Amino acid sequence: MTDLNFTVESGGALRGRLRVPGDKSISHRAIMLGALAEGTTTISGFLEGEDCLATLRAFRGMGVRIAGPDQGKVVIPGVGLHGLRAPSEPLDMGNSGTSMRLMSGLLAGQAFDTVLTGDASLARRPMRRVTEPLTRMGARIDSAGQGTAPLKIHGGQRLAGIDYPLPVASAQVKSCLLLAGLYASGVTRITEPAPTRDHTERMLAGFGYPLARENERTVAVTGGGRLIGTEIDVPADISSAAFFLVGASIAPGSDLVLEHVGVNPTRGGVIDILRLMGADIEILNRRVAGGEPVADLRARHAPLHGIRIPEALVPLAIDEFPAIFIAAACAVGVTVLTGAEELRVKESDRIQVMADGLTALGIAAGPTSDGIVIQGGALSGGAVDSHGDHRVAMSFAMAALQADGSIRIQDCRNVNTSFPDFVAQSQSVGLAIRASES
Ligand code: S3P
Repeated sequence: MTDLNFTVESGGALRGRLRVPGDKSISHRAIMLGALAEGTTTISGFLEGEDCLATLRAFRGMGVRIAGPDQGKVVIPGVGLHGLRAPSEPLDMGNSGTSMRLMSGLLAGQAFDTVLTGDASLARRPMRRVTEPLTRMGARIDSAGQGTAPLKIHGGQRLAGIDYPLPVASAQVKSCLLLAGLYASGVTRITEPAPTRDHTERMLAGFGYPLARENERTVAVTGGGRLIGTEIDVPADISSAAFFLVGASIAPGSDLVLEHVGVNPTRGGVIDILRLMGADIEILNRRVAGGEPVADLRARHAPLHGIRIPEALVPLAIDEFPAIFIAAACAVGVTVLTGAEELRVKESDRIQVMADGLTALGIAAGPTSDGIVIQGGALSGGAVDSHGDHRVAMSFAMAALQADGSIRIQDCRNVNTSFPDFVAQSQSVGLAIRASES
């Protein structure tokens, strides 16, 4: 396949209104729970990006007759917790860690075997964090040498609930175990070291599955219940909105409203961090849609200053750091991030890849084992490599607003995993971006 590159001319401002695509985390979960429910689930605002389509195709491969997506609408005639059928081939999760980790939990409870595969990036990502606790629950999973994909999940195992303190703050691991817990005898109890996104918990409740939140860090589910089909309105993804929050903050003259954005407190770290840096972000028209808090976000240009990022905010902004690093590069003074070693095992090593890209644009960016130190300064134009990481590509696109020359970004095809319409939507609010094949 040819490479997709972005070229972004320098300068300009972001102005107008935008509804970025649906939330990726919520879209995945809506397909999974909708397929496993009894009765019909109707989803609107579904993210038609490659990651969520991988999840959708996997359930089709297991006999669920999903209609759509058609302009964000998906209709799922649920087959019930025990109604999936053995797929005829391995399930390809593409670039999507969420698909692989969450699916491994629910597949561990099936009567049939499955194999989960993915692309080169996914095949490098750590899977022991799910296979180890699932094995403790009674699952049988074979992995490649490093505990990585492909994963072969043996069916027909009897699962039993466990009490599991998560070694890393990971919503994917928590969700994987909650889904396995639906199939386990007794109680599956998970305690997090720090709060992480709670979409699975909220959505299980929306599907009528009882869940015990024993305290702020501990959630428990008892197997043997049932999910009842429902309607889900997926809000716009704050992780996709984040690029525009940063772009509007750094570009003089910007005034942008992002509509219907999910502002679940377990995802709001990017707003808090940018505000600590001096950003002017207003949260307007707060409301609730489908069990999730939603608002319109208005971002205007403001002078930013460097900060030491509070570690408590790291899990709440885990996907937004590539964009936050661009804000830090444009800020006056130094920004220091610690406690974020998880960034090294995302779609790329986001600490190293962002440090390399910022350095190529003339910014002093020093990677550390668990974070980065960025000295704000003058961004030059230049060429950066996204290493196939969608969020890295979109973050550097925003950097051009403040660079003194155009920025060329290589290897951008995976922007389709989370934000298929990024180029057109960005152009519509003033970013001088174009895509080209090479
Ligand atoms: C996600 C959880 C996060 C996040 C990922 C989506 C989810 O991963 O980075 O993009 O939907 O649960 P971790 O749980 O590994 O931190």
